[in-house]
Amino acid sequence: MAELNDKRIVLGVSGGIAAYKAAELARLLVKSGAVVDVVLTAGGAHFVTAATFQALTGRPVWTDLWDTHDRGMAHIDLTRGAAAVLVAPATADFMAKVAHGAADDLLTTLCLARDCPLLLAPAMNREMWDKPATRRNVTQLAADGATLLGPAKGEQACGETGAGRMLEAQQLFDALATFLQPKRLAGRRVLLTAGPTFEALDPVRGLTNSSSGRMGFALAQACSEAGADVTLVAGPVALPTPAGVLRIDVTSALEMRDAVNSALAGRHIFIAVAAVADYRPAQAIEHKIKKGAAGMTLELVANPDILAEVAARPDAPFCVGFAAESQKLPEFAEAKRRAKKLPLVVGNLVQDGLGGDSNVVTLFDDAGSHPLPPGDKLTIAREIVNHIVSMTSPCTE
Ligand code: PMT
Repeated sequence: MAELNDKRIVLGVSGGIAAYKAAELARLLVKSGAVVDVVLTAGGAHFVTAATFQALTGRPVWTDLWDTHDRGMAHIDLTRGAAAVLVAPATADFMAKVAHGAADDLLTTLCLARDCPLLLAPAMNREMWDKPATRRNVTQLAADGATLLGPAKGEQACGETGAGRMLEAQQLFDALATFLQPKRLAGRRVLLTAGPTFEALDPVRGLTNSSSGRMGFALAQACSEAGADVTLVAGPVALPTPAGVLRIDVTSALEMRDAVNSALAGRHIFIAVAAVADYRPAQAIEHKIKKGAAGMTLELVANPDILAEVAARPDAPFCVGFAAESQKLPEFAEAKRRAKKLPLVVGNLVQDGLGGDSNVVTLFDDAGSHPLPPGDKLTIAREIVNHIVSMTSPCTE
């Protein structure tokens, strides 16, 4: 794997049962030509021994803040010149410490002192993952620029089932390789829409849908990882903004259209992921509608089609549309692509992709249809970015 050959990776292992998978990850990294420095916490050493990692990596294993192994200051030196720090497993306790800047052992201290990207592979019981404290820490870590890989949902070592399983070694290896890939959108300016819109009926009520924004936010992150300058126009969702992405919050379709038009100049790529309401109430009613007759009739008017408008401009960027269908995906997605004259449409069934963390998509372009493997939205977003890169010329500015 070219992305990893000759790269030095700091592999942090904190104390969870998933630490056994870190041994396999170390083996995959070494096999691909990476130089792997393992930093094992006291908790991690309860699950896998330093001797295991030493044998797999052929290098000394770091376990103590005061270890030197002939290096001056391990907590500083280990990350200098490293391509990334990947902590797998990252326990709830470890993430809480890093989120708060704690530095009470070698791994937390080097995370604070690092000058390279930090990737975390969470692993914990589902209740721990769901707790507000962990949610806050995850949000903070993402806002601070850490990249979270997983966790997956499924059967857990404790016997419960839910979100919190660490990704498999091969998945972590692939994600790291993708993360380290050349910045193939460097110099590109990308504009995206994401999430639902909310069309007010009165000051209390409105029309909306159950788009979570996750697919669009994942694409914004994937574009940013690939080196693009990214602006994300987001409908009303409560997701953290991906690192390095400029976010513009809007509520209604008309606001989304205004924000897109204001941010469009100089963009190379426009990706419309938002589930924009096709209609809005004909009148915005100033005061709360009072309960009256047994029924009421709403008059709706069509919203502008933001994507169609952008794609029809003489100076249109490379436009990517989404098609959310509940049936006949190939037929309807291809019809949308042709109607809006788009080079690329990403088709998904609402039952696969609306809300939730995973999706199943097929790409439609002039060459035909290209189904992608089912997966989490970030993995899929990275594949979509690869496809966009293959269809667009490199930046020469
Ligand atoms: O947000 P998530 O929970 O992660 O769910 C992801 C998703 C299912 C919302 C996403 O993957 C998706 O399919 N987004 C497009 C949803 C949609 O509105 O599809 P559509 O077939 O109605 O619209 C076709 C395209 O035109 C879309 O690119 C849409 O953004 C765009 N459009 C539609 C209407 C409109 N008024 N303006 C637009 O720009």
